[in-house]
Amino acid sequence: MAQIAKQAAEISILDRPEQRFPLKLAAQIPKIRKLFHASAKNQWDPRTDIDWDLLELSKYTEAQLRGAREFWSRRAWSESGAISESPALQIRFCQDRLEPDLQLYFTIRTQEESRHAETCFMMADKLGGYIEEPYENIYQKSVSTHGVRKMALDPDTPLEAIIAALVCAAEEFAFDVFKYLREAVTDPVARKIFQLIMRDEVRHCAFGWTYMDYRVKKLSPEALKKVEEAVIVMVRDVELNGYHRAWLAPENPASLLEVKADRLAWDAGLGGTAEELEIPIVVKTVKRLRRRMKPWGVNLPTFNHPKIGDL
Ligand SMILES: [Fe+2]
Ligand SMILES: [Fe+2]
Repeated sequence: MAQIAKQAAEISILDRPEQRFPLKLAAQIPKIRKLFHASAKNQWDPRTDIDWDLLELSKYTEAQLRGAREFWSRRAWSESGAISESPALQIRFCQDRLEPDLQLYFTIRTQEESRHAETCFMMADKLGGYIEEPYENIYQKSVSTHGVRKMALDPDTPLEAIIAALVCAAEEFAFDVFKYLREAVTDPVARKIFQLIMRDEVRHCAFGWTYMDYRVKKLSPEALKKVEEAVIVMVRDVELNGYHRAWLAPENPASLLEVKADRLAWDAGLGGTAEELEIPIVVKTVKRLRRRMKPWGVNLPTFNHPKIGDL
């Protein structure tokens, strides 16, 4: 009875008693410990590692600059989501007394996400001014956080479901956007930013796959099902809803303004997106996730998007 009452009271992992000792710090997942060391070695500073003087605003029209400001502001919004998600996961690692490698790595991962947010903010600012919110509230649904903070503190959500959805799925989508833009943009400052962010994102993705490969064999069929459901929600309701790409958002007056802004930024070589060039990239990302997760026993269904069809 007392046990049932205790469980009923546990609505967040923070309701569990804190236990710090014995404090184990030796490496248990060497590959993740290596990522921690690589991150520590590869820090950069947007104020000094980017030659902002190369940004020549006179080359661009007023409309292109407005579009690019919108694009870079939106990038800052999505990076800033990770600033709170990352420490929420950190609390989970500590409360669940998981491998110390996860805790060490995520301290730097959080810093990296902060740096990405600041860099995108600086770019928007230098292009004429950071924009603090979407054109219309209605578009917020496509760019707001994906609920990871709450999930991370929920004892009924397996950690693996969050890592598979947030890191393996969402960060792969983000990575493919950066990879494509790094080659496609012509502005030297925009290109440098994508290069620097990508350097960190490679490790973020590697963390997710390494951890899942390490954990997946130990998961119960119920936990595995929850992993599958979380990834499906992330792909269908977050990514294919425009989280990283405005043109994927449901068509409405607000999202059309975002798409128009992206096109202007794209034409200027300052960022943005071009739907026709990105469709095959999104299809490839989904196929890669499906192929990579199949050996775990996670089966991703065929998704559908009005602008892409089945994928
Ligand atoms: Fe990031
Ligand atoms: Fe990231």
